[in-house]
Amino acid sequence: MTHAVSPAREPAQAASPTLYGGTGTRRITVRDLTLAKERGEKWPMLTAYDAMTASVFDEAGIPVMLVGDSMGNCHLGYETTVPVTMDEMTLLSAAVVRGTSRALIIGDLPFGSYQEGAVQALRSATRLVKEAGVGAVKLEGGERSLAQTELIVQSGIPVMSHLGLTPQSVNAMGYRVQGRGDEAAHQLLRDAKAAQDAGAFAVVLELVPAELAAEVTRSLHIPTVGIGAGSECDAQVLVWTDMMGLTGGKMPKFVKQYANLRRTMGDAAKAFAEDVVGGTFPQAEHAFH
Ligand code: KIV
Repeated sequence: MTHAVSPAREPAQAASPTLYGGTGTRRITVRDLTLAKERGEKWPMLTAYDAMTASVFDEAGIPVMLVGDSMGNCHLGYETTVPVTMDEMTLLSAAVVRGTSRALIIGDLPFGSYQEGAVQALRSATRLVKEAGVGAVKLEGGERSLAQTELIVQSGIPVMSHLGLTPQSVNAMGYRVQGRGDEAAHQLLRDAKAAQDAGAFAVVLELVPAELAAEVTRSLHIPTVGIGAGSECDAQVLVWTDMMGLTGGKMPKFVKQYANLRRTMGDAAKAFAEDVVGGTFPQAEHAFH
C-alpha cells in the first residue's frame, strides 16, 4: 500500500542574513532586530512620510523606517511636532506602508495620543496597526510611559521607546543635550531599563552624550537607536529631509548631509521656469498631434 507523501512543509521564508544588504524579501520584524543585536550587527533607520520616498528607501535596502512625528516640521509645515494629530499620523503611515514591501514600518504616537494613560495609548496604537498597517509604534518616555508601554506590548503591538531629548516635551525641556551630570545620567539609565522591562523592543536615544549612550547600549539586551548619541548605539536614525539636504536652514551638529536635494530641486524648478518663459519647453517631442 502506498501512502501519499505530503509535501514537505514549505520552510518559512528564510530571514535575510543581515538587515541591510540581506537578500530576504519578506517584511523585517522586531525579532530580526533582536537577532541583529545578538549578532552585533548595526543597522540604519530613516524617517519617511510618503509612499514614493519610502519606496526609494525600501529599494535601497533601508530595513526600518519611522513615520516620525517629525512630519510636523519636515512635511506638514508646523513649527514643532506638538500639533501632529492621529489622523495625520494614520494617513501618512498608511502611505509609507503602501510604498514598501520589506522595511519594518514604525508609526509614532503623536503628542496627546497616549499621555492620558494606558487605555488611550492602546487605542491609538491599535488604530495605527489596524488602519495604517504599521508593524510597531513608538512613544516618548521611559518610566513615565511605563503603563502605556506595558499594555500596548501585552496586547501584541511592539513598542519602540524614545529617550533623551523627547521633542514632544519641547515646551518643557527645549532642544538641548540630555543626560548630562550624574543624576540625569542615572535617570536615563533607569528609563532605558524601565522601557526594556516593560517589553519595548528598542530604544531611541536622542541628543545624549556618546559615553552615556554607549553605557546604555551595553546594559540593554534590546537595540539602541542613536540620533546625536555617538557611534556605539546598535543602530542610527536620521530624519530623511535633513540627511538628504532638503530641510532649509542650519542643521544640527549630528546630521551628516548625504545629498543636497534642496539645491537640486531648486535648480530643476528654475530650469523648468526658464524653459517655459523662454518658449523652449515644450518641444515637438513633448506634444501630441
Ligand atoms: O519623529 C522622529 O523623526 C523621531 C526621530 C528623530 C527618532 O522621533
